[in-house]
Amino acid sequence: MHKKLTISSIKKSKGVKPLVMITAYDALFAKLLEESADMILVGDSLNMSFAGKSDTVSATLEQMIYHTQAVCQGAQNSFVICDMPFGTYKNKTVALDNSIKVFQETAADCVKIEGGEDKAEIVEYLTSNGIAVCGHIGLLPQSVRSEGGYKVKGKTEQEKTQLIQDAKAIEKAGAFCMVIEGVKADVAKAVGEAVSIPVIGIGAGVDVDGQVLVFSDMLGLFEAFTPKFVKKYIDGASLVKGAVKEYADEVTSKEFPKVEHTY
Ligand code: KIV
Repeated sequence: MHKKLTISSIKKSKGVKPLVMITAYDALFAKLLEESADMILVGDSLNMSFAGKSDTVSATLEQMIYHTQAVCQGAQNSFVICDMPFGTYKNKTVALDNSIKVFQETAADCVKIEGGEDKAEIVEYLTSNGIAVCGHIGLLPQSVRSEGGYKVKGKTEQEKTQLIQDAKAIEKAGAFCMVIEGVKADVAKAVGEAVSIPVIGIGAGVDVDGQVLVFSDMLGLFEAFTPKFVKKYIDGASLVKGAVKEYADEVTSKEFPKVEHTY
């Protein structure tokens, strides 16, 4: 069993060992995934992967709390991050009230909020009130409707400068690490070099301080679409469908249950 990471061991890992982050939404998978992951993210991506919605925007705090409770129950030896859903950190007071609710009702180790310089004041308010914060910069899935799609960032000098400013502002505000999503690899590298806290990439190349993937993407379970940055480590959808087909065939032909499955 691996040792549960702490805020200080996560910070110290920068430049020493890349961090392995993966999402989980329930106790069953959290327990399976924690054997190899350093950190488990209860991402609001559960609104798509688990709840079948087309984006993350309609995820609620109640949903996030319910799934975070389940993940913390399943992965008791893991550092767990609860994603704050859209609208739950619109100003610093709302953000603190909602984060306190997360901390009181779950065993999450920190919350994650999307945004850079524009959210620094909120991050500062949370961290100075005892809430550990993981930032999230670059492509922000909660802005998909206002931006009209998922847009890769860091394509211009201006975007590069802004991303570096975002990362520095989040670090100064007290975040202990951040996710960087959908950013040109050379720019993500420059962002990582500009701060002293770990920058964990998703669709941001290899030159960052760790990687995060959505578990249902990397296990090949999510079929609706596959972003360029996803590697499917197994074809989970085919494996599951194949197994259920075999079960269905055996039920129909009365091959299952056999004597060894019978009282
Ligand atoms: O919600 C999520 O799963 C995330 C990851 C994509 C980083 O925020």
